[in-house]
Amino acid sequence: MDNLIGLVNRIQRACTALGDHGGEGAVQSLWEALPSVAVVGGQSSGKSSVLESIVGRDFLPRGSGIVTRRPLVLQLHKTDEGTPEYAEFLHMPKKRFSDFAAVRKEISDETDRITGRGKGISVVPIQLSVYSPNVVNLTLIDLPGLTKIAVDGQSDSIVQDIENMVRSYIEKQNSIILAVSPANQDIATSDAMKIAREVDPTGERTFGVLTKLDLMDKGTNALDVLEGRSYRLKHPWVGVVNRSQQDINKEVNMIAARRRERDYFQTSQDYGHLASKMGSEYLGKVLSKHLEAVIRSRIPSILAMINKSIDEIEAELNQIGRPLANDAGAQLYTILELCRAFDRIFKEHLDGARPGGEK
Ligand code: GDP
Ligand code: NA
Ligand code: MG
Repeated sequence: MDNLIGLVNRIQRACTALGDHGGEGAVQSLWEALPSVAVVGGQSSGKSSVLESIVGRDFLPRGSGIVTRRPLVLQLHKTDEGTPEYAEFLHMPKKRFSDFAAVRKEISDETDRITGRGKGISVVPIQLSVYSPNVVNLTLIDLPGLTKIAVDGQSDSIVQDIENMVRSYIEKQNSIILAVSPANQDIATSDAMKIAREVDPTGERTFGVLTKLDLMDKGTNALDVLEGRSYRLKHPWVGVVNRSQQDINKEVNMIAARRRERDYFQTSQDYGHLASKMGSEYLGKVLSKHLEAVIRSRIPSILAMINKSIDEIEAELNQIGRPLANDAGAQLYTILELCRAFDRIFKEHLDGARPGGEK
């Protein structure tokens, strides 16, 4: 049987497909009920780099300035050992990408298609699925970085617009917050921690990630943060070392970068004792496990939402009238079918989990 994250992924994708037309009502509430991991932090704190390391592939536009300008909903699907790795965009359903450089170009082109070539942003998400034996099952959302001032060519409202967009993803109680802060800046000034604290004051659904450990001043270390003394969260902090801009320019590959990151922690005077709980590979595993646990604990409420959605979508479809007149109708119908399937499968899960329940 499909794993839980895989099931939720499929509803999420169907909801994103409807995003343009169905941003309200049943589909919107369904989307909000489904847990996912959203990545937040200041511009150039290393958010996109962290996501790439978790996936183990180069495929995101990265660099200085505002590079990520639309939300990217990234669904990772673990496939059988030995099967080929590929990626697929929701806006190009027929095309399989096996060249990840082409994926990066398409993200960039698709960003420009909606926002223009400038430095503007858009709330319309890009949806990308990656199928690979080397990933963990996970839905991650890459978001534009928080900033303090508008730069040339940006509207004055951009600072607030980005903050509102980020908040809309992390304020829902089912969202897991991956809060990225660079180690070479004071944690007290971290944009990520500021907004995370605002929506999750007890730190229950926030994972603190500290990037750029390699760029700290000589003679200093981040143990106060990594050991939870500076900023206490329910989950332990994870430190990572991503590729530098120079590495990216020199095309240092992901496997080499991961190996180097592992060596960095294992041989570090400061962090050696934490080595088994540091790095992007570990982060990916922790997140996947946590996401699965959250989904599992939310099955009853997701189920309730799905049943409510089934009723509402049926009502909506009745209004549209069959045969289906447009794309939105056809997609609603797909969601309805998916919801019915999930209703069955979730209930089986519930029965299986209950003591004395049927197998
Ligand atoms: P984002 O704007 O938060 O998505 O940040 P990016 O992932 O685009 O990274 C911004 C820049 O910081 C890039 O040039 C990265 O190479 C660099 N960078 C990110 N993480 C690290 C790190 O851990 N160490 C070093 N040396 N550079 C990093
Ligand atoms: Na950036
Ligand atoms: Mg980015």
